[in-house]
Amino acid sequence: MSIKIILAPMHGYTDAPMRDLLTQIGGFDEVVSEFVRITHTLHSRRTWLKRIPELANNGKTANGTLCCVQLLGSDPICMAENAAMAVANGAKKIDLNFGCPAPTVNKHQGGAALLDNPELMFRITHKVRQSLPENIPLTAKMRLGISDTEKTLDCARALSDANIAELTVHARTKIQQYNPPAQWQWFAPIQEVIKIPLIANGDIFSVQDFNRLCQEITLSGIMLGRGILRKPDLALQIRANLKQQTIKPLSYTDIMQILQKFFRQTIDYSPNNQQYPIARIKQWLAVLKQEYCQLQPLFNSVSKLTTIDDIEQTLLTFTP
Ligand SMILES: Cc1cc2nc3c(=O)[nH]c(=O)nc-3n(C[C@H](O)[C@H](O)[C@H](O)COP(=O)(O)O)c2cc1C
Repeated sequence: MSIKIILAPMHGYTDAPMRDLLTQIGGFDEVVSEFVRITHTLHSRRTWLKRIPELANNGKTANGTLCCVQLLGSDPICMAENAAMAVANGAKKIDLNFGCPAPTVNKHQGGAALLDNPELMFRITHKVRQSLPENIPLTAKMRLGISDTEKTLDCARALSDANIAELTVHARTKIQQYNPPAQWQWFAPIQEVIKIPLIANGDIFSVQDFNRLCQEITLSGIMLGRGILRKPDLALQIRANLKQQTIKPLSYTDIMQILQKFFRQTIDYSPNNQQYPIARIKQWLAVLKQEYCQLQPLFNSVSKLTTIDDIEQTLLTFTP
């Protein structure tokens, strides 16, 4: 069985250094950028390249994995103009966000707020599709609804009718936030009403979860979010499983090397902001230690440190 594996956009986590690192570890066919918020202005080339440096590399991460550019907004014309601008600046694929639950974006009718209005979802998507060259695929990512699933199928149909190439479904409503379990039972009926591939997303944290998901639906693709932050080799594990193989999970030593590399990459990525690499490494360690409990003492030490040199030294010398 061959399926597409995509790295989920996770605002504040899957920035360019993380996308670069995770695609180097491997297993991904594609990544999606964190959302770029579209209001009434047309983003400049500088902004596009700052948010998505992959655009200067033919729209790909350093190891050649396609980085799809995700837009979030509610005005069809502004969305269309910015999508065209992203493409003019190097984007090779565009994705539209219909799932973000953040109050700041929902207040302006962006993200999950649109799930109450399939007709507007259609107009936005249709307009964006019209603004893009034919060879640039347009995709969308949605939740099931705002507070219930009454309009789930209408939303999915609206996006499919607007000619998207693939639909990713995070199988929760907005008010479910990230509470388990994701409602995988919705994948099959959604797949039924859309005539395009469905990418299943939500609560795939292990190969076992993936195998359970395979019993719900014949999969075209999956998107991995929080699971990959906890297990950076999860996509590789799933790929091996698809070939009836198993691979050795990353060892503690592998993880230490990955952390050192990540820290270095974040330092290089933001040379004028010392706080950025420090915040990023602390944030990722907090997530990784959920899977690699031997990292707890490292997390405790790094949490107290405030300089790049001290953290780098600790990452190089730490033994559990
Ligand atoms: C911190 C965080 C930030 C997220 N940012 C985005 C985003 O920018 N765009 C988007 O479409 N989804 C975003 N999501 C949702 C994820 O892409 C994904 O749909 C969700 O986490 C469920 O998948 P998972 O169970 O594999 O994590 C975010 C999720 C988290 C936890």
